[in-house]
Amino acid sequence: MNATVEVHLDRRAWRDHLAAVTAAGLQDDPPWTPPVWFYDQVGSALFDRITRLPEYYPTRCERSILEARADRIAELTGAETLAELGSGTSEKTLLLLDALVAAGTLRRVAPFDVSEEVLRDAVTTIGERHPGVAVHAVVGDFHEHLGHLPTDGRCLLAFLGSTIGNLTPAERRVFLSGVRDVLGEGDRFLLGTDLVKDRGRLVAAYDDPEGVTAEFNLNALRVMRRELGAEIDTERWRHRAVFDEDHQRIEMHLVATAATSVRIEQLGVDRAFAAGEWIRTEISAKFRFEGVHAELERAGLDVVESWTDDDGDFLLTLAQPRGTSAS
Ligand code: SAH
Ligand code: AVI
Repeated sequence: MNATVEVHLDRRAWRDHLAAVTAAGLQDDPPWTPPVWFYDQVGSALFDRITRLPEYYPTRCERSILEARADRIAELTGAETLAELGSGTSEKTLLLLDALVAAGTLRRVAPFDVSEEVLRDAVTTIGERHPGVAVHAVVGDFHEHLGHLPTDGRCLLAFLGSTIGNLTPAERRVFLSGVRDVLGEGDRFLLGTDLVKDRGRLVAAYDDPEGVTAEFNLNALRVMRRELGAEIDTERWRHRAVFDEDHQRIEMHLVATAATSVRIEQLGVDRAFAAGEWIRTEISAKFRFEGVHAELERAGLDVVESWTDDDGDFLLTLAQPRGTSAS
C-alpha cells in the first residue's frame, strides 16, 4: 500500500487559535463553542454511531444518492485525484472510489480531516480496498489549510455529510471561496447538503432516544476540560436540540441543570450559568435547493448537476469553478 499521512497542524498554534475562539465564544451572548471539540477519538466513534441511528437519516440518504449516482459522477469528472474534506471514516467515499477505479481514471485519494486517529483508520480501510491507489492523507483544518490539499491531475473535491451546515453563513462564504481558489480547470466540487423538512424529523435526528447524540454533545465538555484545562462540572449539563425557524437550522445546546460555571483560568474565562442557561455547541443548517445553488454560484462555482434521494431529503451537487468547461 502506498500511503502517507501529512500533519499540517502546528498543534500548539492550532490549540492556541481554538482556545482564543472558544474563550471569545463563551463570553458572547448567547455563549457558544466551536464544533471542532466534538471530534476527539471518543467523539468520532460516537458520531459513527449517530450515523447508524434510525432517526439520523442524512447518512443513509446521502449514501443512497451515491449508490445511484457514483458512476455518473465518475463519468462527469474523470477524476485522477479524489480529495475529501472532513472525511471522517470515508465510508461513503468508498462508493466514489469504487466507481472512479472502475472507470480507470483514479490515481490517488486524499482524505483530509482534523482528527488524526480517524484519518489513520480511514487510510487503512482505503488501502485494503484498493491497494493500487495511492493514499495521501492530510491532517488539517479546512478553515485554514485548504492550500495543502493535493489536487494533482483532474481532482474531485468532496465535502459530504452536510458538514457545511456546521458553518455559519459568513464562514460558508469564506470557505466556498477558498474551495474555488484551490480548484483548477477540470477540477470539480461535490457538496452534500441536508434539506429543510418536517421539524419533528429534524429534531428527532439530533435528539435520539438512545441518547447517543446527547453523549456526543456532552463529550465536547470533556474534551475542553482536557485540551484547555477548563473547569467544568460535566454533571450539571444536559443536551437539547432545537430547530431555529428564523435561521432554518438545528442548534445543539448544553443546558445548565443547576447553577454552575465554566472557568478557564489561563484564558481569563469565568462565566456563571444559572439553571436553564445554555451554551450553543453546534449549528446544523438545513438548506433549500435554490439556496445551495446560490451560495455555490456566489463563490464562483457553477452547478453541473445535482441529485436528491427518492424522498427529497438530501441534496448532492456537483459544481465546477467558473470559466472552465463541463467536460
Ligand atoms: N464526511 C463524513 C464525516 C462527517 S463528521 C460523513 O459524511 O459522514 C465531520 C467530520 O469533519 C469529522 O470527521 C471531523 O473530524 C471533521 N472536521 C470537523 N471540523 C473540521 C475542520 N475544521 N477541519 C477539518 N476537519 C474537520
Ligand atoms: C458532521 N455534521 C454534519 C453532523 C450534523 O448533522 O450536523 C454532526 C452532528 N451533530 C449531531 N449529530 C450529528
